[in-house]
Amino acid sequence: MEAFFSSMALRRLEEALSSIPPLQSALLLLLSLLAAIHLRQLLLRQRRLEPPGPFPWPLIGNAAQLGSAPHLTFARLARTYGDVFQLRLGSRPVVVLNGERAIRGALIRQGAAFAGRPRFPSFQLVSGGRSLAFGGYSELWKLQRRLAHSTVRAFSTGSPAPRRLLEQHLLGEARALVALLVRGSAGGAFLDPGRSLVVAVANVMSALCFGRRYSHSDAEFLRLVGRNEQFGRTVGAGSLVDALPWLQRFPNPVRAAYRAFRQLNRDFYSFVRGKFLQHRRSLRPGAAPRDMLDAFIRLQQAQPRLPLEHVPATVTDIFGASQDTLSTALQWLIIFLIRYPKVQVKMQEEVDRIVGRDRLPCAEDQPHLPYVMAFLYESMRFSSFVPVTIPHATTVDTSIMGYFIPKDTVIFINQWSVNHDPEKWSNPEDFEPTRFLDENGFINKDLTSNVMIFSLGKRRCIGEELSKMQLFLFTSILVHQCNFIANPNEDSKMEFTYGLTIKPKPFTVNVTLRETMDLLDKAVQRLQAEKTATENHLSANL
Ligand code: HEM
Repeated sequence: MEAFFSSMALRRLEEALSSIPPLQSALLLLLSLLAAIHLRQLLLRQRRLEPPGPFPWPLIGNAAQLGSAPHLTFARLARTYGDVFQLRLGSRPVVVLNGERAIRGALIRQGAAFAGRPRFPSFQLVSGGRSLAFGGYSELWKLQRRLAHSTVRAFSTGSPAPRRLLEQHLLGEARALVALLVRGSAGGAFLDPGRSLVVAVANVMSALCFGRRYSHSDAEFLRLVGRNEQFGRTVGAGSLVDALPWLQRFPNPVRAAYRAFRQLNRDFYSFVRGKFLQHRRSLRPGAAPRDMLDAFIRLQQAQPRLPLEHVPATVTDIFGASQDTLSTALQWLIIFLIRYPKVQVKMQEEVDRIVGRDRLPCAEDQPHLPYVMAFLYESMRFSSFVPVTIPHATTVDTSIMGYFIPKDTVIFINQWSVNHDPEKWSNPEDFEPTRFLDENGFINKDLTSNVMIFSLGKRRCIGEELSKMQLFLFTSILVHQCNFIANPNEDSKMEFTYGLTIKPKPFTVNVTLRETMDLLDKAVQRLQAEKTATENHLSANL
């Protein structure tokens, strides 16, 4: 019976088609085919639900909607579309994750699936194309990250001896910084601390990585470390450089930024590569590594699976990532000290009470200075100065909160949204360090672990411990030694420029000594004597 009806239907179709001229029937067939393909895609998409999102414009997608503060735009869009939504930058789909649930769901529960990096042309320019931070997720990358992490730990906070070395370098830089800031503030003047802060932290990292520091007036060093804003603008989430590649074809600000970015990466890499060649020549077999670069050379010799060129590339990442983020952090810390003078006084009272006035704060004081630590966490939460992580990419087809996300999709992780979530933090737009203290005045570790600025999972920052130690030491020494005063002629609005790190717009400050430079001078002299004794001891034993 069924066969009878289907042969009838076929005959009717043949009759109908034969009555249509051949061209029209070919067109009809083509249209039916296109409709079938479209229907199939629609059904597939419905089965694999795509994240919702705003309407993308031809050619540019949603690029024009991001504005000057994309992290705030993302948080606003999340209120309309939910914590997981989709944008288009140019023609490229980008999924934005907001809020702790979506971000943890991706970076912790499906770590490997979300651990990739987009294959952006700009990412290939970093660290000679062998970057740990901007490279894709692979077996070689895992080895590179493991070795880098253990080197950073071994030369910073891993055990008492390297911690002491870090403290020595930092004390020397804190003294130079205080002297400069105080000199520039003589007679009640106000000065922009930006450049001095960059050189101070870059010098701590240069000493750890390469075993040497530079003068605050060294033009070459300044040119090298003074271009962080250019770097962050190009690789920050929402940058147009990779989203709209056709902008490279004619003169415009995006093309100019890309060319400057290419040059600064070449300069940075060749600076570190030069150090690498010197170190390789001078590292004696069997001698203890003098700094991170030596240690990494040794690790590579023991693990030749890591190509040799990955050594300068990885140290370029470590030096670059640290001086940009830490100098930005210090700028925000100084801003908060001057905008909230009562907080500054409370910090000074705490360090004076716990440390006293006869010595400088040191690493061992950290557990006993909860208000200083609360200030640091509140500064990181409030500023969220790495608002969106380095862009991620999916390594496989996956899904998050019910939405299908294909392999190789670009993922933006909006850390700012976690740190300003009103369901997590009461009055998130208020700067209030005491929110991190419990009723006995101790640090509430459950709350501090809720601050998201070093990211999570397989791409989590490898410099977190080192950063927290440096920021603690700089902050506690600075408030122990100095008073910081805002310029009353400047707007107290905290304006910033967006990039991988958000930086405060230039501001000025007046810095005076609370007493004299004696403690800093004596500490540095003592350290110098210790260092000379250690070096003499080492050379006597070689
Ligand atoms: C307060 C200071 C710092 C902050 C807020 C910070 C934050 C971050 C963030 C958000 C990422 C991206 C993670 C992701 O894509 O999911 C990152 C990556 C990275 N950071 Fe940091 N960082 C800081 C300091 C440092 C320091 C001192 C070092 C070096 C010792 C460092 C080395 C790196 C490296 C190598 C990566 C790439 C990790 C990877 O892709 O697997 N960072 N950091």
